[in-house]
Amino acid sequence: MIYLDNAATSFPKPREVWQAMEEHWFHKGGNPGRSGHRLSLEAGRVVTQTREALAEMFHGESSRQIIFASNATDAINMALKGVLKPGDHVITTSMEHNSVLRPLRDFEQRGGGLSIVPCTKEGFVSVERIRKEIKRETRLVVVGHVSNLTGTIQPIEEIGRICREKGVLFMVDAAQSAGVMPIDVQKMWIDLLAFTGHKGLFGPQGTGGLYVAPHVEVQPYRLGGTGSRSDSQYHPDFMPDRLEAGTLNAFGLSGLLAGVEFIKKEGMSKIREREAFLTVRLVDGLRAIKGVEVYGPLSHEKRSCVVSFNIAGLDGAEVAFVLDNRFEIMTRPGLHCAPLAHETMGTFPQGAIRMSVGYFNSERDIDQALEAVALIAEEGK
Ligand code: ALA
Repeated sequence: MIYLDNAATSFPKPREVWQAMEEHWFHKGGNPGRSGHRLSLEAGRVVTQTREALAEMFHGESSRQIIFASNATDAINMALKGVLKPGDHVITTSMEHNSVLRPLRDFEQRGGGLSIVPCTKEGFVSVERIRKEIKRETRLVVVGHVSNLTGTIQPIEEIGRICREKGVLFMVDAAQSAGVMPIDVQKMWIDLLAFTGHKGLFGPQGTGGLYVAPHVEVQPYRLGGTGSRSDSQYHPDFMPDRLEAGTLNAFGLSGLLAGVEFIKKEGMSKIREREAFLTVRLVDGLRAIKGVEVYGPLSHEKRSCVVSFNIAGLDGAEVAFVLDNRFEIMTRPGLHCAPLAHETMGTFPQGAIRMSVGYFNSERDIDQALEAVALIAEEGK
């Protein structure tokens, strides 16, 4: 079995992740921040430590700025609904995932302004184009750090600098980059960073969050019990409680904490180098197969470990089906919840086959995948 769908969710997770979750299940399963007994305190400690570990990883000012959510989409919704007001204008790019596009289209339908900056065939956005789109009403620029279709890495720091100069908020969708490459919210001028726990951070599904810079006011859209100020009928106004309500997923966070600690122990650069090495092998191998077209950046430095391609004359869904059923190779075909990114690549509506490499893949996995694709291309002629 060869798993090449790490952009959908990383698999397998490091052993430490399920070990931490098992430990939590049996010995730390109280409600975090609520009852005050030993199991509740243990769970609360896990939540606090996860916040601290994430704040450290993203270079946030304090752990209070990390708000937990169910996934990146949940975090993006929290941010968009919490900062945008009628009459505001938002700028985004043509490479975004539906997690950004759908809430923004909804905002537009309710009278908000939306500019979508077209990207190049390699998936890059022009920093200058973003600058030109900024007007008086512009409240926010939203950019995905790494494309889930082509792995294109956007020039986040340059965009962030322009936004800060112009007094516009900058939100980064880090669904494909958190844990995979360094993110420094202060150095990159990021005001809001949405991340998921179950991809590059090696945590379980159902975890994720939003970093909110101290100067940014996000209106809460969920109110209720926080375990703090229980005497009041009004929601607390201090972070992180201001933006969280209801029992947190402490069980999931125990796994996320172990994932973040695993990255720290291994070293993010070692993980990135390994994934880059395998990705170069995959991209170069695919390009060498007759009839295969690979999308995205030509330069290996400017792409992450997400690789999409098509085989001339063959349907992507059928190729993925054969890869799974005959060769036990798992990929993701179709439109990847990113119809506009596919339009940008010229692969809409037919889609593409996506292989996304992870830290636990081997060179043999890549070579077997390449052999399988070559065989399918040869037989399909
Ligand atoms: N957004 C995830 C993907 O690209 C699920 O597969």
